[in-house]
Amino acid sequence: MKKIITVDGPAGSGKEKICKYIARKYKLYHLDSGVLYRRLAYELTKKNIKTSEENKIKNVIKKIKKLSLRKTHNLRKEQIGKVASEIAKLDFVRNFINSQQRLVTKTPNNKKGFVIDGRDIGSVVFKKAFQKLYIDVDVNIRAKRRYKQLIDNGEKSIYLKILEDIKLRDKKDKTRKNSPLVVPRGAKIIDNSLTFKKTIAQIRNIIEGIY
Ligand code: CDP
Repeated sequence: MKKIITVDGPAGSGKEKICKYIARKYKLYHLDSGVLYRRLAYELTKKNIKTSEENKIKNVIKKIKKLSLRKTHNLRKEQIGKVASEIAKLDFVRNFINSQQRLVTKTPNNKKGFVIDGRDIGSVVFKKAFQKLYIDVDVNIRAKRRYKQLIDNGEKSIYLKILEDIKLRDKKDKTRKNSPLVVPRGAKIIDNSLTFKKTIAQIRNIIEGIY
């Protein structure tokens, strides 16, 4: 089994940028588990299936062999993020997405290992990971960054609404029964509130201390 680095943390904590850096620097394959939740959310939305229609969701899942990992523009929409966090509460959805992640790590590629980000990667999906990181950032900073990202993407948005949405997403992620967002046992906490340079320094210290 190739080495796995897990990166967990709340919405808008900058996991993607951090993972891209780690992947490039250490020649790892970056798997963003949020994309899988968002892709399924997108497929359900396209079919007009509501998050309460569990049997219909199960039928859609049954027909999917491999979820696309393509990060298309439409997956980043706030509405898709909301649906993703709704379906993320469902046990059978989490089991399905977890098996999709394992499938990816078993598919051969030319990388040295994987860096995988999400909410439960170090705590549930890859408990035996080589290194676990947890990204922490104050909620106001996360909201400001998310707001800028949406505006840059050409989506209209209101800062206070983004702040409320992130707080709600945090609450849902941290209080759900199945695989809530926690600091995984053995994870190192990275403070990503300051400059990216400072974040990178913390990460390199941790990873290069053991590589
Ligand atoms: O970009 P953001 O951090 O808002 O979310 P994401 O990583 O793209 O994931 C979308 C949603 O899927 C999150 O709000 C989580 O509720 C859910 N998710 C999860 O429950 N577990 C994961 N491993 C990844 C995402």
